[in-house]
Amino acid sequence: MESSKPTLEEAVQQLKLGQLVAIPTETVYGLAAAIDSESAIEKIFTTKKRPFFDPLIVHVSSKSMAKKMTKDWSPLADFLAEHFWPGPLTLVLPKSSLISPLITSGLQTVGIRMPKHSLALSLIDLLGVPLAAPSANRFGRTSPTTAEHVRSEFPGGSFLIMDGGPCEVGLESTVISVQRDEKDFYGLSLLRAGQVTESEIEQSLKPKFKFQFVEPADKIAAPGQMKHHYMPEIPLILVADETLTETQILEQTQTQLAQLPDEIESVQIRKPKNLQKIQEIHLPPDAALASRCLYSELRRLSENISVQALYFRIQAFHSSEDWQAPMDRLRKAASLVLNGKT
Ligand code: TXA
Ligand code: MG
Repeated sequence: MESSKPTLEEAVQQLKLGQLVAIPTETVYGLAAAIDSESAIEKIFTTKKRPFFDPLIVHVSSKSMAKKMTKDWSPLADFLAEHFWPGPLTLVLPKSSLISPLITSGLQTVGIRMPKHSLALSLIDLLGVPLAAPSANRFGRTSPTTAEHVRSEFPGGSFLIMDGGPCEVGLESTVISVQRDEKDFYGLSLLRAGQVTESEIEQSLKPKFKFQFVEPADKIAAPGQMKHHYMPEIPLILVADETLTETQILEQTQTQLAQLPDEIESVQIRKPKNLQKIQEIHLPPDAALASRCLYSELRRLSENISVQALYFRIQAFHSSEDWQAPMDRLRKAASLVLNGKT
């Protein structure tokens, strides 16, 4: 891994040679490969230890580039791209033949977005080819929101890291699939919550389009939809019962953790034998601010070796729509939920 700051030209050269480059985006850092290099795409999966059934998002620097990657660039897709790009919204659309099945895990659709970060956009522009990029973390773990996080995820990794500063949004993009029928009626499905909410999308489309939000047609096995993901190095406990004291939380955690398997969905859980120190995670009440610092807080607190588990208290205001994405990540990152029933 390079310690000096690589230039855009160096990054382009690496990508052309079929190497990976870690890139900043406004959401989280991505581990990128040029979409025309099958071997580099394969490297993404092996480096992350990511299962091949989990499709990658393709990053573009213009709408026309996105159009070429799809088979049905509908008026609604064009409108959403115009309205929300560059930004944290991924559109899942029928794929064109330029997208290899390795990227989409064999699906006939592709997830595309235009990231809102000048380094990422310049890199894609200079290369002239879109970048496939998942979050730059080991599979199942917390996504990186700084270049330093990427470094610590892959010690000894042999790819360049472009440092674009801390990510502004801090959580992965909203993913929605767009389908239309012969009568130009659209079915939209929210596949992963993000900063762009369902209500915002709905508001932007009314009354221009005939559409409806529907449940996803087939639940593909992808982390966006897996039960556990984004997990910190030590157990995270969600506390839904506000009457529990820290001592009670510690006791219940100790008992309930012991009953859990050592792995959840192939992600290892570190279970302390003798639990003595748990640490509360405090997040700002503003959802955007909380999202921005959530992952770095999970990392920072897990790094304290005297802390054996983390806990977060769920409160009534966390059920509002702007908290949907951070709560989704907290639930998936959690090993346990304490709801007062013992
Ligand atoms: O903000 C983000 O989206 C970040 C940055 C780097 O752009 N990327 C990211 O990628 O979060 P990743 O690989 O961690 O998550 C991609 C998820 C998949 O797990 C899946 O849930 C969904 O996007 N996805 C991608 N392509 C899809 C498709 N064709 N159909 C359904 N879901 C898809
Ligand atoms: Mg990820």
